[in-house]
Amino acid sequence: MAESAEIILDGKSYPFPVIEGTEHEKAIDIAKLRDLTGYVTLDSGYKNTGATKSAITFLDGEEGILRYRGYPIEQLAEQSSFIEVAYLLIYGKLPTQAELDDFSHQITKHTLVHEDVRKIFDGFPSAAHPMAILSSLICSLTAFYPESVAPDLSKEEIDLNVIRLMAKISTIAAWTYKNNMGHPLNYPRNDLDYCSNFLYMMFSFPTEKYEIDPRIVSALNKLLILHADHEQNCSTSTVRLVGSANASLYGSVSAGINALWGPLHGGANQEVLEMLQAIQKDGGDTSKFIAKAKDKNDSFRLMGFGHRVYKNFDPRAKIIKKAADEVLAALGIDDPLLKIAQELEQAALTDEYFIERKLYPNVDFYSGIIYRAIGIPTEMFTVMFALGRLPGWIAQWKEMRENKEPIGRPRQIYTGETERNYVGIDQR
Ligand code: MLT
Repeated sequence: MAESAEIILDGKSYPFPVIEGTEHEKAIDIAKLRDLTGYVTLDSGYKNTGATKSAITFLDGEEGILRYRGYPIEQLAEQSSFIEVAYLLIYGKLPTQAELDDFSHQITKHTLVHEDVRKIFDGFPSAAHPMAILSSLICSLTAFYPESVAPDLSKEEIDLNVIRLMAKISTIAAWTYKNNMGHPLNYPRNDLDYCSNFLYMMFSFPTEKYEIDPRIVSALNKLLILHADHEQNCSTSTVRLVGSANASLYGSVSAGINALWGPLHGGANQEVLEMLQAIQKDGGDTSKFIAKAKDKNDSFRLMGFGHRVYKNFDPRAKIIKKAADEVLAALGIDDPLLKIAQELEQAALTDEYFIERKLYPNVDFYSGIIYRAIGIPTEMFTVMFALGRLPGWIAQWKEMRENKEPIGRPRQIYTGETERNYVGIDQR
């Protein structure tokens, strides 16, 4: 590996240190670039720019590798639980049984939300998108727990905020669905595990008992694990940037929720389902839509294909596809949208047009099929993504705070008007 990088500017040579991560990723440390040269770098979308060092998640886009704290996602999805993975991401190690029991118990104890949160709910129109409600109510936690805003919180205070957030997001997320459906809200139960409790709050009715199906609980655990972190994606970078201003965990995560809502990010799973439904409504001829996607004069694009970082395949998509097949078979669901999805996937994996453009199914492509099988409506898909991503956001915010990272403040290259004098309105 090169010991240093040399930049030659205006005939002068400037050496910059090269750093290497534990997985041999290399970076040029340009922290002193502007002081030494007067130049800044420009990298719109930060495709080549590392914003931080992190010990939480490693992914290799070329090899399709994803590990949380060193553990392969494939092993965690098959052998762990969402709450155990949340502990791993947030605290950096797999918990002992006693640590896991305490973490789960603390979360269970805090799933109830203040009755005034219900009053805020009553103010939202039932047609409000669940993500609008979720981001608002998560930010409102700073109003219910004003001490969470302090920049110099102790470890114990941060841990309490972590527990509150992990616990209350599940209740608030389920309530966004109930509000959307105009149904009575269900209060959390302390006798259920995290995923079972969420499903109960989502689907239980006063008029009929909701039977918790362990196969659905298992599928939900797997889905949430697969979404739990993904290094410096858009929403996580948002959480870190907002948190770098010493904003509270709740306010930082609320910002992350809004970033995730974007259709180019977490909103893609909702877009995928709407695309499959549009194809079905049009008669289900996938070859017609494959042709449209390849036609540069046609605005139609396949949603749920390709990825900014993964160059060959998204490891999460492989696991989710298998889970989708298992859940639908176990529940005896013959979803025509799954058949359409499988035809699109087959085309993407065999057609040169998609292969050379690296357009293969990503994590969003199949997740919606499972959520639909579980009975979760399309508008809730991105809420489910946020529920899964929360431990990652928390871990990354906590790491940024513990490392005492400076406030994020990128530079720019100005391209506007040069200096000019003000003129009165009668002279314009
Ligand atoms: C994610 O999991 O956040 C998405 O795949 C987007 C990304 O990583 O850029």
